[in-house]
Amino acid sequence: MASQDLSTSLGALELRSPLVAASGTVGSVWEWAETCDVSLYGAAVAKSVSPEPWEGRPPPRLAPTSTGMLNGIGIQNPGISRWVDEMQPRLRSLGVPVWGSAVAHDASGFGVVAKELESAGVAAVEVNLSCPNLDDGVMFSFDPNLVSSVVSTVTSTVELPVGAKLSPNTPDIVAAAIAAWEAGAAFLVLTNTAFGLALDLEKRSPVLSGGVGGYSGPGLKPISLRCVYEVARALPEIPIVGCGGISTGRDIIEYVMAGASAVAAGTVHLAEPRAGKRILGELKTELAAMGVSRLDALIGAAVKP
Ligand SMILES: Cc1cc2nc3c(=O)[nH]c(=O)nc-3n(C[C@H](O)[C@H](O)[C@H](O)COP(=O)(O)O)c2cc1C
Repeated sequence: MASQDLSTSLGALELRSPLVAASGTVGSVWEWAETCDVSLYGAAVAKSVSPEPWEGRPPPRLAPTSTGMLNGIGIQNPGISRWVDEMQPRLRSLGVPVWGSAVAHDASGFGVVAKELESAGVAAVEVNLSCPNLDDGVMFSFDPNLVSSVVSTVTSTVELPVGAKLSPNTPDIVAAAIAAWEAGAAFLVLTNTAFGLALDLEKRSPVLSGGVGGYSGPGLKPISLRCVYEVARALPEIPIVGCGGISTGRDIIEYVMAGASAVAAGTVHLAEPRAGKRILGELKTELAAMGVSRLDALIGAAVKP
C-alpha cells in the first residue's frame, strides 16, 4: 500500500502527525528536539508553567511501578517570565510546533500565563486543569464551574487554540468536557495522570515525599481510553487528544477508534526519548495490515451511540 496519510486536525489546528509529545516528559522541549527527529511529531507540549516560579516538591519525586511510574514533582518551574526568556528565542527553530501549558492557582493566573505564552510564539495553549501534585492546589477538572471559569478566562485572553487537559479521576468527565467546550476550548486532552501511591516497606511510608502522586504509563491506558470514549460518545464534535499509556502504534489506533483525533505520549519518552519513530513505524504497519490509507478515517470508529 502507498504510504498512509497520518495528518489530522483539532478543529482549525492542523497537525502533520497525530503524535504529540506530552507535557513534562520531554524536558523543556529544546534539548529533546536536538536529539531526535521531531519532524515526525505533530507538536510537543512544554512543561506546565505558572505565573510565578514554583519550587515543586522535595525528593523523592519519582517512583517506578511494574506498569508505569508515579511522579510527584509538583510542577517545579521557573515562572512564565523566565520561561519566556529561555524559550522565546528557540521556539521557531525547533522543527516542531510547541504548545505551551499553563497552570495557576486561579483563573486570572491562567490568563496571565496564556497571554505570555501566546506572545512568545507557541502554536496552542493547554490549560492544565488536572495536576495531582499540588498540596494547596485546586483540581479544577473536578468541578465544571471551575473548568468553565478557567477556560473562558483563557479563551477570552488569547487568540490561539486552547486545549483543556482533564484528570482521569474527574467524577463526571462528560460534564467537565461540556464545560470546557462551552467555554470555548478548541480541544480536550484526555487525560493527565491518575492519583496513585507507592509504599516503602522499610520506612513504612509513601515513597514520594508528597505521598499520593500521579500515575502514568501503560497501566493508565484503559482508564484514559475510557475517558476518551465516554466524551466522544456524548460529544462527537469535540476534538480530543488521547493521552495515557501510549507506547505502541496499536495504542494510537485504539485511541483514534475511541474518538481521539490525535494522541500525546509521555512516559514512554523517559526511557526512550526517540520513541516517536518506532511508534509511528508500528502505526503504519498496523494501518497497512488493516488496509487503511488515512488514519483520520478511523476517528470514532469504535464509538457506539
Ligand atoms: C515526569 C512527568 C511530568 C509531567 N509533567 C506534566 C506537566 O508539567 N503538565 C501536564 O499537563 N502534564 C504533565 N505530566 C503528565 C503527562 O503529560 C501525561 O498527561 C501523563 O503522563 C499520561 O501520559 P503517559 O501515560 O503517556 O505518560 C507529567 C508526567 C510525567 C510522567
